[in-house]
Amino acid sequence: MKTITLSFFSSCLFIAGVLQTQAADITLKITRHYLNIPVSQSQERTDMEFFVDVKKERSFKIRLATGEADYWVFCDVTKFKGKTITISYPGDAKALDKIYRDDKIAGEDTMYHETNRPQFHFTTRRGWINDPNGLIYYEGEYHLFYQHNPYEKEWENMSWGHAVSNDMIHWRELSTALSPDDMGTMFSGSAVVDYNNTAGFNKGKTPAMIATFTVDGHDKQVQCMAYSLDKGRTWIKYKGNPLIDSKEKWHSSDTRDPRVFWYAPGKHWVLVLNERDGHSIYTSQNLKNWVYQSHTTGFWECPDLFELPVDGDKSKMKWVMYGASNTYMIGSFDGRKFTPESGKHYFSTGTIYAAQTFTNIPEADGRRIQIGWGRVSHPGMPFNGMMLLPTELTLKTTKDGIRLFSNPVKETEKLFQKSGEWNDLNQAEATSKFKAYDGKAGLRIKATIKLSHATSAGISLFGQNLLDYDMNSNKVNGTFYSPEDMTSMEITADIYIDRTSVEVFIDNGAYSFSMQRMADPKNTEGFKFWGNNIEVKKLEVYKAASIWN
Ligand code: FRU
Repeated sequence: MKTITLSFFSSCLFIAGVLQTQAADITLKITRHYLNIPVSQSQERTDMEFFVDVKKERSFKIRLATGEADYWVFCDVTKFKGKTITISYPGDAKALDKIYRDDKIAGEDTMYHETNRPQFHFTTRRGWINDPNGLIYYEGEYHLFYQHNPYEKEWENMSWGHAVSNDMIHWRELSTALSPDDMGTMFSGSAVVDYNNTAGFNKGKTPAMIATFTVDGHDKQVQCMAYSLDKGRTWIKYKGNPLIDSKEKWHSSDTRDPRVFWYAPGKHWVLVLNERDGHSIYTSQNLKNWVYQSHTTGFWECPDLFELPVDGDKSKMKWVMYGASNTYMIGSFDGRKFTPESGKHYFSTGTIYAAQTFTNIPEADGRRIQIGWGRVSHPGMPFNGMMLLPTELTLKTTKDGIRLFSNPVKETEKLFQKSGEWNDLNQAEATSKFKAYDGKAGLRIKATIKLSHATSAGISLFGQNLLDYDMNSNKVNGTFYSPEDMTSMEITADIYIDRTSVEVFIDNGAYSFSMQRMADPKNTEGFKFWGNNIEVKKLEVYKAASIWN
């Protein structure tokens, strides 16, 4: 591991009495799976380039640690084994010799067991994540692609990270699927399987998985495609990219996040794209040539558009147009134009952003499953952001009209083992049941409380309100909420507590919210029911298993 330097030249210049270390290259033979690279958040970002066989292989910005590293990131270079790689770096060259080759990622022995690693939410091994991308089910695997900076725990170098799962709960992170290229960085998008070979990329009986995504260039954002013939493991970018370049039309460089799906009644593809002030619809026969059709204003980033039965009745279908902040409209869609009937509504707030639903879920399953980005950080960890629990979306008729509901998918249940169940407790009795739980380990709490006064009541954990129901002003944790039965004085909260986050589903998913855990360091109370004389009608506590074991 210490022998990486096959050829290393750096020169020191003495300019105006200041010793400077000049830019350098380092050339090494790839003999191991990984290159481990030290990062320091206090260092300036500088471009680093890899050349394999003289050809530029990648270019990214990195805060290379010159002194002690805050943490280490890695590059999987397995595919270059036996070749030589030259790393070019215009910054302080003395940092370069700390880069080392190994078959292990630096920190691998404690990977997924770090103090602040979420235990039942997906996080990346190293670096930053934001939006879920290209959520798709294909041949027994759920694919989670996501906006990823593999080289730092802050946003930069946008790439598509990739993880797969058989149950949407236990994830295995794979190599980066799409990396930045000369056109720009890889922004958000979606994926489909082209069963009918409309784009012509299929090989024999193997249909292509096709990703459509935004490339963020220097002064504009264009829509591009790539395909994979090996279940998303490797991707080939289409030579005819870009597919859509609409900056001029919109006088805007905010044109991004294509959401593609097959519209069976019209036998064509639909692409929903956020353009400046809302979501545009484009259509295509071959996923390559797209024709603009219509536009719905009032949305920003990360569109989604899908059809759901109302109250499970397939003769009553409605379309949901969706934006990055989880607001939505309900309406109809004829394959070319979305016509809103109501909205914009919301059903989920807090850390959630840029949620997307899966494509290609088998008809026999038929669920509309969503994953959202949890804007949660994990103190002291070499990674940032996470994915919220996958939820099933449904449309239900409520006193206010048709609304979206969300609940964790049934697969989540196997993570939680019931450890206690009680009925009809007073406040002190209910709080005492919590004594057995230290509030540090993962937990699910399901509680139905009945208020005696309209003033705020709920559940707290070390001084942080996991539930704060204020009937007087119709608010749950600060957001307007009016229950179906306004006179019941009751509320049910299904609370998922992980190491750094909390997700709460109210009244069977009528409303949900998520938060970063923010314990008051001085508070020693642990869990507590609080409020003006409340009754705990039902309390269930479940212990969480780790998805990483
Ligand atoms: C939303 C977003 C997208 C964009 C991506 C870039 O969080 O801004 O609109 O494609 O993130 O990382």
